[in-house]
Amino acid sequence: MKIVHYPHPTLRHISKPLKRVDKELHGYVREMFDLMYEARGIGLAANQVDLPYRLFVINLESDPDQPEQEHVFLNPVITSRKGMAEGEEGCLSIPGLYANVKRPERVTLNAYNMSGEELNLELDGLFARAVQHEIDHLDGVLFIDRLSPTTEMDVREALLDFEDQFVSQRERGEIPDDSAIAQRLSELEQLRA
Ligand code: CO
Repeated sequence: MKIVHYPHPTLRHISKPLKRVDKELHGYVREMFDLMYEARGIGLAANQVDLPYRLFVINLESDPDQPEQEHVFLNPVITSRKGMAEGEEGCLSIPGLYANVKRPERVTLNAYNMSGEELNLELDGLFARAVQHEIDHLDGVLFIDRLSPTTEMDVREALLDFEDQFVSQRERGEIPDDSAIAQRLSELEQLRA
């Protein structure tokens, strides 16, 4: 398992809800936390590790020594939004790029945890921002899709570099073609449908 970078097509995949949690899924989640800590991130969505599942992991401290800060949210849905706030965001799939994004300031999150318990959480601050960023991932949306036109111009150059790198990696055979990626995602999805 590894973190895929923009513009990998799995980052545009819209994940379907999970129907069950099994041992293999627990293993995926553990690996996702490890990769997230390694990359010093605070959140990671399944499609960022090339998996078509509607889940993400979060540790706002990005600290493996604070496992009590670890959250896994399955089939997450925002059920209410209040206010608007601007804050800087980055993404492990677009490493090194940071930009301001406007989002609702407070949200209510409905989701399930790995024990199958339903959660309804009122969130604000960084937690609210991170959860919205990660749910966007599950819908194939990246924070660069939510920039103001002027900010978008500021990051265009950097994004073109990522696109060039992706093309080179494909040419070297390090990344399968679009149809092979889509085929694999659909097979993995059917395993848990
Ligand atoms: Co991200």
